[in-house]
Amino acid sequence: MGISKLTTEKVKERVDIVEVVGDYVPLKKKGQNMWACCPFHNEKSPSFSISPAKQIYKCFGCGKAGDPIQFVMDIEGVGFTEAIRHLAGKYGIEVEEDKERTPEQDQAQSERESLYIALGFARDFFVKNLQTPEGKSIGLSYFKERGFSPVIIEKFDLGYALDGWDHLLKAAKSAGFQEEILLKAGLILQKEGDASRVYDRFRGRVTFTIHNIGGKPIGFGARILTKDKSQPKYINSPETAVYHKSDVLYGMFQAKKAIREKDNCYLVEGYTDVVSLHLSGIENVVASSGTSLTEGQIKLIKRFTDQVTVLYDGDSAGIKASLRGIDLLLEGGLNVKAVVFPDGEDPDSYSRKVGSQAFQDYLEQNSRDFIGFKIGLYKDEFVKNPIRKAEVIREVIQSIGKIPDPIIRSVYAKEAATLLEVEEDVIHTELNKSLLKTQKDHYNQQQEPQVPETGFEEFLPTEEKTQFSDILKVQEREMVRLLINYGWETLDQEELHLCDYLLAETQDLEFETPVYEKILLTYRQILRRGEVPSVDLFIRQKDEEMRQEIIDLITPRHEISNHWHERHQIFINTESDNLSLTGFKSILRLKRRVVQKMMEEAKQKIKSAESDQEADVKIDELQKIYFELKKVQLEIDKELGIVIG
Ligand code: CTP
Ligand code: MN
Repeated sequence: MGISKLTTEKVKERVDIVEVVGDYVPLKKKGQNMWACCPFHNEKSPSFSISPAKQIYKCFGCGKAGDPIQFVMDIEGVGFTEAIRHLAGKYGIEVEEDKERTPEQDQAQSERESLYIALGFARDFFVKNLQTPEGKSIGLSYFKERGFSPVIIEKFDLGYALDGWDHLLKAAKSAGFQEEILLKAGLILQKEGDASRVYDRFRGRVTFTIHNIGGKPIGFGARILTKDKSQPKYINSPETAVYHKSDVLYGMFQAKKAIREKDNCYLVEGYTDVVSLHLSGIENVVASSGTSLTEGQIKLIKRFTDQVTVLYDGDSAGIKASLRGIDLLLEGGLNVKAVVFPDGEDPDSYSRKVGSQAFQDYLEQNSRDFIGFKIGLYKDEFVKNPIRKAEVIREVIQSIGKIPDPIIRSVYAKEAATLLEVEEDVIHTELNKSLLKTQKDHYNQQQEPQVPETGFEEFLPTEEKTQFSDILKVQEREMVRLLINYGWETLDQEELHLCDYLLAETQDLEFETPVYEKILLTYRQILRRGEVPSVDLFIRQKDEEMRQEIIDLITPRHEISNHWHERHQIFINTESDNLSLTGFKSILRLKRRVVQKMMEEAKQKIKSAESDQEADVKIDELQKIYFELKKVQLEIDKELGIVIG
């Protein structure tokens, strides 16, 4: 339905970009602008800026930009009219319908919008059913038995689907909804073998409304109330145009504000756990609804916080499920804690049993980071059994290996060493093994590189080819030189060897200079064998070329200095005084060269594609790649503190 111009104007006048974006991502003030991690693409450091003065947002990472209305359209995936409605709702502005809308406008009403309306109708219908005699005696009494208060029932749009084949169908049809829309919304089903006969999907069950992040109903979970084992306990809405299960977490709409405030998100298994926690005064809670977590769901959490506390059943199935979840969360770059409940209890039953204050205390006192949690699970076993202990160590390290940030990884490695009562070196050796394995798996899986890396060479004039390769070689050499000379030294925090950092950072780079690639490989092998990568070990290597190079690398710089080193300011006087900084800069310089080389290759390819008449699409793509690379280079320059004029 159309909206009057006046309503649109009112919304535009009232709306504030900071308030609108702030509903979705945490904002930090820096100078005139506010900054956030972009909700439209995955990133760790904020490149999404909001200008309160100009009332616009712009992401320097993915390029999305616009005004508050555009933001709502993008983030909710809705059209202009829907966005205006959403904002009018937020600001309590009354929506005046456009009386003079044309039949064409009626037609243009998108299917998604009709699904939302149909689902809203169903929600209202189920909610109202709770007040009918059947709803009261069956549905409402079940909720009461579980301790759900009227306020909570309303907050979560809990309802009841009457027992019968077509209660919803009839009501919806007489309200003007077409069968086709009800089908597409997942509310009704076609009879098998006779598609012309349709009937209600949800029958004789209590209903949990599933909302999108903006609070619109997008689906339902419906729980059986009888002990009938031939029926599934829950019937859930199917995947529809508005319900993409892998991007939805139950309870997010009711939780998002609290998650941001508490900077933590409790993760539970199901609908009833979410509702029970709210009853206990805990609002920062969402559920994965019985399925294992997806990347989309993890991204959703990351819009609001970096900290997740997993609350699963105390039984073994529950713990298994939580362990799977934990690794996924770690891979997503989240900090993970977990709470175990006494045997046989889940968050829902335990909160009801002990009451809200005791439950909150329990969560606080029993939440442990994932290492402590994992080790705690097996502690009794491995005290008695050394073989079991080795297994546990591997288990724990495998999880640590999932953490993308090498610094955080090393903090956990230290903690694991303490808790497992083993030498830290043992942990590091195992960790390197596990990282190496992941890396190999990664390469095996990845058939095609995302950015074309080969095939450019042929377009490069020989002269340029040598120049770029030479600069790259110098940076590669510099990184390997640091590795050989200082690799085993610990960094400032004494939690991390320089080699851990350097090797992790170059994991995905293939070195161009064969001898340096060989040294890296050997270095990794030595670590894998659990040996210390000392210089003498390298000098004893059989490979003649490598031995020569190593000797060269450990020879003090004034003896081998050449013009390259001076021109490119590679050496820092205090290189061994501040190894973490030296290592960091060396990696950045290396990456900068790699990026520049790729940019140059892209440029050459564009040139040669321009002479080809039908290569427009290809040029477009290459230009995109080029600008992406440019952005990366600028980021690196910023880090390196290079001021570009
Ligand atoms: N679930 C589901 N389909 C099923 C069983 C479970 O989708 N057939 C999901 C639901 O999201 C449910 C969650 O798994 O909320 C947890 O299941 P369970 O604990 O069995 O459901 P509860 O309603 O909490 O039942 P109980 O009172 O027995 O704990
Ligand atoms: Mn349960």
